[in-house]
Amino acid sequence: MQHAAAPAFHVGVIMDGNGRWAEARGLARVAGHARGARRVSEIVKVCPSLGVTHLTLYAFSTENWRRPLAEVEGLMRIFHTYIQGKMAGLRRNEVRVRFLGMRHRLPAPLRELMARLEEETRQCHGLNLSIAIDYGGRDELTRAVRALSQQVADGTLPPSAICESRLAEALDTRDLPDPDLIIRTSGEVRISNFLLWQGAHAEYDFPSISWPDFTVRHFADLIEAHRARRFTADTPPPPAAVARP
Ligand code: IPE
Ligand code: IPE
Ligand code: MG
Repeated sequence: MQHAAAPAFHVGVIMDGNGRWAEARGLARVAGHARGARRVSEIVKVCPSLGVTHLTLYAFSTENWRRPLAEVEGLMRIFHTYIQGKMAGLRRNEVRVRFLGMRHRLPAPLRELMARLEEETRQCHGLNLSIAIDYGGRDELTRAVRALSQQVADGTLPPSAICESRLAEALDTRDLPDPDLIIRTSGEVRISNFLLWQGAHAEYDFPSISWPDFTVRHFADLIEAHRARRFTADTPPPPAAVARP
């Protein structure tokens, strides 16, 4: 329960640059993804000591299905192996895991594993880790609008009751605060469909380092720089809920 009272601090990460990292070393792109997966564990572990209460990682976009089949299959295998291997440790470290995005296009065994991890960590009270797989902000908004429209059609929701918070509650991120900081590695300055609604007030940082080379030190430095920009030395950081209207 140690972290329950801590002010929310939500960091989103677009983990980009795995393919280029591998290609620069004469390796298959999938080797870059495998190396990237190792970084995830290090970053997850360090979050509590940096005051990060929520970490959301972009692992696979709705557009990533267009990649060569071998790469997509390699990524699915990596997700499967990662979840299988980390399930016990995440639970032991009080990490609560949620998945954002659609489920139905993913391989059934992976889907089952994702559901199990969410269930196994439901009572965890440490870091809130969200992993976006087959996630796109546009798709998420489209699904939310469809769900609300259904309620309107059913006569249970008057259109006048649709407001920002109602829409936010229909998103995959309904249980999460908005991100404070969104980092995209590899030097690309794009959002690529990540947390389009939720990132409205976020700060964005685009370090040029690729994800497989992105260390805990880089992560800590970006967070420190973000804090320094947001809060002056003599003003204590207010809770996130108070920090923005
Ligand atoms: C990000 O790395 C990982 C996923 C999209 C799954 P990339 O595979 O996009 O790496 P680059 O951008 O081609 O280097
Ligand atoms: C965004 O990266 C998706 C993830 C990191 C999972 P991409 O590398 O797929 O994005 P684009 O296609 O270059 O915009
Ligand atoms: Mg990329």
